Amino acid sequence: MSKKFLALVAASALAVTSLLSGCGAEKTAPDADVKETQAKVIKMGTNAAFPPYEFKEGEDFKGIDVEIADAIAKELGMELEIVDMEFDSIITSVQKGEVDFGMAGMTVTDERKEEVDFTSSYATGVQVIVVTEGSDIATLDDLEGKKIGTQLGTTGDIYSKDDFGEENVVSYSKGADAIIALKGGDVDAVIIDNEPAKAFVADNEGLKILDTEYAIEDYAIAISKDNTELLDKINAALEKLTADGTIDEIIAGYIKAE
Ligand code: ARG
Repeated sequence: MSKKFLALVAASALAVTSLLSGCGAEKTAPDADVKETQAKVIKMGTNAAFPPYEFKEGEDFKGIDVEIADAIAKELGMELEIVDMEFDSIITSVQKGEVDFGMAGMTVTDERKEEVDFTSSYATGVQVIVVTEGSDIATLDDLEGKKIGTQLGTTGDIYSKDDFGEENVVSYSKGADAIIALKGGDVDAVIIDNEPAKAFVADNEGLKILDTEYAIEDYAIAISKDNTELLDKINAALEKLTADGTIDEIIAGYIKAE
């Protein structure tokens, strides 16, 4: 997926300013547009431990965000490079310009909006509660005084520390680590986004998701406040990919309609 940046021709900077038109919605089709210059690389910061949005299969990055980002890069006539990092580092990395955008099932929040700009939203997420099958936790109120596992820096982490007290929340580097802790009895519940929750519960016996929805959120792409040009371009690409059905098709490839 991520190829090395081979050469930068001054002219390529101009080439990217014009959006490609008539680019096919076919997500797996190779780029039919043969271009004379090497495509300019666009870097995405993510945390590829969040199925079905981003995850690794061997050396390959897979998932909804990866495919949408790939389609956006094609629209911009650029080549996508994925930089995998801690979720907690993505916004800083975007601010410092180490990556061009952050895409990681990232929830739009007022606090984050002070740090980065967000594109229009391309998906909805719900914070849910995962417990063991025999658990006596059935509602949000039952979490009072219990140990809660989260992924560090996520909204589930931030909100549960606010609502249930920092001393009751254990933040893990990955959601999957919080799930392992739940199975091992180190925490009593895990608060995490619904789709990764479903994926983790499917992979691990003896867990269930409570019906209670803790928070309903919008996912969007984070871009440096210094790069409104890229913000506009990605928004235009998202609009096109929404209108032509590409985004729905990508999501349907990973999430079964209920
Ligand atoms: N939606 C949550 C948030 O923005 C969790 C996102 C975690 N994403 C990831 N790739 N680990 O805080």
